[in-house]
Amino acid sequence: MTPDTIYCGDSIRLLGEWESGCVDLVFADPPFNIGYVYDRYKDDLPDAEYVEWTRDWMSACQRVLKPTGSFYIAIGDEFAADIRIIGRELGMHLRNWIIWRYTFGQNMRVKFCRSHTHIFYFSMHAKEFTFNDHLLRFPSARHTEYQDLRANPQGRLPDDVWDEFPRVCGTFKERTGFHGCQMPEALLMRIVMASSDPGEIVLDPFIGSGTTAVAAKRAGRRYIGIDLSDEYATHTRKRLEQVELADKAGESDGWPALHIDMLAQLYRETKVTLANLLPNEVALRVVTASLSARAGHEYSVEEVAAQFERMAARLQIPKLPNDVPFVARSHVKSEGKRYVRRVTRYRGRRDTDPQEREAV
Ligand SMILES: C[S@@+](CC[C@H](N)C(=O)[O-])C[C@H]1O[C@@H](n2cnc3c(N)ncnc32)[C@H](O)[C@@H]1O
Repeated sequence: MTPDTIYCGDSIRLLGEWESGCVDLVFADPPFNIGYVYDRYKDDLPDAEYVEWTRDWMSACQRVLKPTGSFYIAIGDEFAADIRIIGRELGMHLRNWIIWRYTFGQNMRVKFCRSHTHIFYFSMHAKEFTFNDHLLRFPSARHTEYQDLRANPQGRLPDDVWDEFPRVCGTFKERTGFHGCQMPEALLMRIVMASSDPGEIVLDPFIGSGTTAVAAKRAGRRYIGIDLSDEYATHTRKRLEQVELADKAGESDGWPALHIDMLAQLYRETKVTLANLLPNEVALRVVTASLSARAGHEYSVEEVAAQFERMAARLQIPKLPNDVPFVARSHVKSEGKRYVRRVTRYRGRRDTDPQEREAV
């Protein structure tokens, strides 16, 4: 096993060839067995076969994890309970059953809209594991609402429901375009920061578009990625090269691109609009302390406030829900009626029961 490599092949076979206990952190986002179309994998096994395969790859990952290692697994509703049970059977310790709640889920007509994925966080040992709480903190409501000086100046830890990572949609700059299940880099950055230290080895046995490797590399960890598809592996290697080039070239006003991305993510976690955050020195101090910890560089409150202003001027501040003033779009007036007619005709072709039609 060579660190900083993207392997092409079957995870169970490759992991079986490696020495045991050589990896510090595993993040796995396997196919969910929901009939998704991948380059080389057929995502519709019979349920029992899928569960058996899940057990096999989970124990292959467990074998290469160090006794102090951590194991995160993303999975859909259909097999979440199986993962929990297999984790227990393999003797791993469940630390959190995280819900990643996202916007832009799928709209349903005859059931509630699905807008989450499960992320299991297991540790190999009950008490000995890495958890870098100082790299995860952000201002609490005590800071943002009450400017309470008694609140922990380092901020608070995230909940186990994560709603600060939007899904990577087609229009996002981050979107690579060659893989339909790309995870957000910021989400992987949280996991990598939480459960590994610089220089440690992060393994993703289903690397897909390469997100885990990108987060690990940017955070100064070493990565190993595996995918069945030669095409995905090749694209991932290119993505990693581009990240390196962008990070090297990405100094803006003396700020590395990575630190600007980290500040943008902290803003998302704080969930307070810039108009309310900038005058609130108590909250800004927490943002500054947290950014300094994540970036490994001491920033001052003034530097952070000035960077926020520059990001706002360049439209680099992420949107919070309902954060922008409503502006009526001119095309609604001119095109609206025609558009509604077109959509109704289109839906009418597929709907058998008009009663169940969604009225959005
Ligand atoms: C859900 S995607 C992972 C997406 C990834 N987390 C990302 O952010 O892009 C699952 C990936 O597992 C790969 N895969 C399926 N079976 C595999 C196997 N036996 N060994 C290695 N990779 C496999 C598929 O090709 C697919 O790219």
